[in-house]
Amino acid sequence: MDKLVIEGGVPLSGEIAVSGSKNSALPALAACLLTAEPVTLHRIPLVRDIRTMLDLIGHIIGSKDADISTDGGRVTICAGRIEHPEAPYELVKTMRASSLVLGPLVGRCGHARVSLPGGCAIGARPINLHVSGLERLGAEVRQEHGYIQAQAPHGLQGANVQFDRITVTGTEDLLMAAVLARGETVIENAAREPEVADLAALLTAMGAKIEGAGTSTIRVQGVAKLYGTEHTIIPDRIEAGTFLIAGALTRGDLTVRGCVPEHLRALIAKLQQAGVEVTEPAPDILRVRVPGKLKNVDITTEEHPGFATDLQAQFMALMTQAAGISFITETIFENRFMHAQELARMGANIRLEGRQAIVAGPTPLSGAQVIASDLRASASLVLAGLAAQGETVIDRVYHIDRGYEKIESKLAGVGARIRRVSV
Ligand code: EPU
Repeated sequence: MDKLVIEGGVPLSGEIAVSGSKNSALPALAACLLTAEPVTLHRIPLVRDIRTMLDLIGHIIGSKDADISTDGGRVTICAGRIEHPEAPYELVKTMRASSLVLGPLVGRCGHARVSLPGGCAIGARPINLHVSGLERLGAEVRQEHGYIQAQAPHGLQGANVQFDRITVTGTEDLLMAAVLARGETVIENAAREPEVADLAALLTAMGAKIEGAGTSTIRVQGVAKLYGTEHTIIPDRIEAGTFLIAGALTRGDLTVRGCVPEHLRALIAKLQQAGVEVTEPAPDILRVRVPGKLKNVDITTEEHPGFATDLQAQFMALMTQAAGISFITETIFENRFMHAQELARMGANIRLEGRQAIVAGPTPLSGAQVIASDLRASASLVLAGLAAQGETVIDRVYHIDRGYEKIESKLAGVGARIRRVSV
């Protein structure tokens, strides 16, 4: 199992590039199942979750080499036929986003069998809202042997769907089901994440009729058929945000290139309140510096455009170096503070009270052996390691490999002393 070894205390400086968004690429790959024609996607980040999704799509279309080709960040999928309209447990248990194939498979084939995901480190994460949305479109859904079995032998019928709570992949799943349904579907209380809008842009390029993606009401007019196209995935706002926080935490001078500042407004505002200077030297570039002391700031995670839960752990690492008490409230997932104990082992003063973490800073961080528990928790440990005195060894690095492309070479390129060791 790989470990990351970090010799901390070096301010990051220079320019670091952002990859394509993992959470946009995953539904985009699933959307390729909606047409028999080839779809080419650019800027796909080659991270572990993407490889899992490619394995899943390969299984579904019974892939020969010609059906899926990858060339760096360019992936072409031609789902000419659907051999196995199912997501088996072995793949779903390693990546919950596998449930994103449910909507497209029912939409295209009229039936699908998708394993229930089971437990997850950061919270229960059920898919009941995906299922009830499909039922509103006329699918008959049964749960059997740990699988969701959905049938719509005569096709899906557009309907009004009001989500009980905002769900990102639930909105995406239903959007992909609705594009081939008969008539109009209206999704209310839809997720407004940029990844939903990116998926809608891809589906529109494939011939779908969608209005309102990126707002809380999405209208879809079903079409009979979708076509092949090319699409470039948006930059990864969470990776960009992680780098911005890394620059601030190491008191460096870091330029993050190839990002969309508009997707990062909530983080930028909180960084500025914390005393970080954030500038936009070009429309796709952000630069961070810390002219004085870091100040305490409270954050509450929310759906977009609020503060992203996927940046909470990294921001907590930053607050360990801010003067005063910061209250960090997690509202999206019920168990997303597992990094707190590991940060404490490095010297942080953090008290957990239910959904709130209370961070008292600044406390010097010192390198330690720590364990990554999930993707964003591991990112926060990398950040803490970069700021700590001495050596940090992070175990279970496979979590970070799920979502960060070439993390150690990118960080080394801006001065970090970080290396991977295989043991
Ligand atoms: N929820 C339900 N029922 C459902 C679906 C969701 O109760 O059917 C609950 C969840 O348990 C959670 C809340 O609703 O408490 C929001 O979950 P959501 O469905 O929005 O999360 P997701 O779609 O499973 C995506 C990202 C996550 C990110 C969340 C929140 C992808 C592939 N994953 O997950 O990304 O944290 O939205 O923004 O897009 C990550 O990249 O590290 C990651 C976990």
